[in-house]
Amino acid sequence: MNILLIGSGGRENALAWKMSQSAKLSKLYIAPGNAGTGNYGTNVNLDPNNHAEVKRFITDNHIDMVVVGPEEPLVKGLHDAILADPLTASVPVIGPQAQGAALEGSKEFAKAFMMRHNIPTAQYKSFTSANIAEGEAFLATLKAPYVLKADGLAAGKGVLILNDLDEAKRELREMLGGKFGSASNTVVIEEYLSGIELSVFVLTDGKSYVILPEAKDYKRVGEGDTGLNTGGMGAVSPVPFAGDEFMRKVEERIVRPTVDGLRKDNIPYKGFIFVGLMNCDGEPMVIEYNVRMGDPETEVVMPRIESDLVELFEAVAQERLGEKRIAVSSKTCCTVMMVAGGYPGSYKKGTPMTGFDEVEGSILFHAGTKQTDSGVVTNGGRVIAVSSLGASKDEALALSYRNVEHIKYEGRYFRRDIGKDLDKYYK
Ligand code: AMP
Ligand code: GLY
Repeated sequence: MNILLIGSGGRENALAWKMSQSAKLSKLYIAPGNAGTGNYGTNVNLDPNNHAEVKRFITDNHIDMVVVGPEEPLVKGLHDAILADPLTASVPVIGPQAQGAALEGSKEFAKAFMMRHNIPTAQYKSFTSANIAEGEAFLATLKAPYVLKADGLAAGKGVLILNDLDEAKRELREMLGGKFGSASNTVVIEEYLSGIELSVFVLTDGKSYVILPEAKDYKRVGEGDTGLNTGGMGAVSPVPFAGDEFMRKVEERIVRPTVDGLRKDNIPYKGFIFVGLMNCDGEPMVIEYNVRMGDPETEVVMPRIESDLVELFEAVAQERLGEKRIAVSSKTCCTVMMVAGGYPGSYKKGTPMTGFDEVEGSILFHAGTKQTDSGVVTNGGRVIAVSSLGASKDEALALSYRNVEHIKYEGRYFRRDIGKDLDKYYK
């Protein structure tokens, strides 16, 4: 089978690494990919938002399946465009059509979906510039902290959590005044949930589902979870506070009602669902849906999956996922994300990198890297994820941190405390 994988991050490197182990894979193309994905297939310079260009590539290269890594092309209708063209309509796409992608593309749509299907989530109301005064009055009825969310995609920056009521009211006005462009034309205000977060991943064919290994990621740039939010600085799987009983609640109260809800609402959905959850004293509550895998969670989830990923994708395409069981390693996988100095603020690109060959026992998943004639250079804020499997979290982390030392580039930074907060949950 020839597969076209869309995306260029650590997530896509991990998906490419995993798919390349399948006997079913003939050719893998990654658009646009990075220096790491080039080890598992051919990088191609396609713009995922140029649907005509993607469709032409599919027909010219006899592509049998398209796997979409990031959410943006899905929200912008890449799957719909492939389906609408008689030349490409029979090529399965892993990743939902725009209608299903609204679970991530519109917070208001996602909240209404959860309410309709009795899926546990924070209470909320949404507001537009037509009812700012009501929004301010609603804020005044809530206790701090106040959670304000831009309805649309805002590159991970559209959620504000504020302690002061006047500041929350001011931010509400600014958001509705275009702070995040049209993404904040509607603002969701919701109840604050306190607890500890985790990421649960589901693969579905729209009827059945398999639950993939769960993971915890580390979003803040600074140690001790301080400083600015990033795309993610590291991850651990499995998550020790997500035991069997908790995961049973997640499946019964969230995963099954979500897949059933999509079907009841006549929303076709083939692909990943990433449920961002809060464990509130043992009770799972949904914070958000994403219509893709997480990054850097994929870099710890893929190494733990023992089943053939291409076979699972094929079962999704043929709506046979109900026949499948997924085999998962009992080992712990940890990843440490190495970033560019200054990230998530401004940072340099094009810095030469060395040391890849000295890495032993870990898997390198490139994120923001690029192959040039003179070697690999940095090409983004999150540069490379160093993932390791171990009999315990500490063993896996020790291996990643040992190998991190080999990867050298000017201004490199990483958090030294990935997974430390989990110590108290291991028996
Ligand atoms: P989101 O973009 O929806 O993932 O939100 C970004 C982050 O804000 C989440 O990862 C949570 O840490 C936090 N967050 C979002 N909604 C809530 C909530 N209702 N209560 C507490 N924290 C929240
Ligand atoms: N690591 C969180 C995300 O991918 O959104």
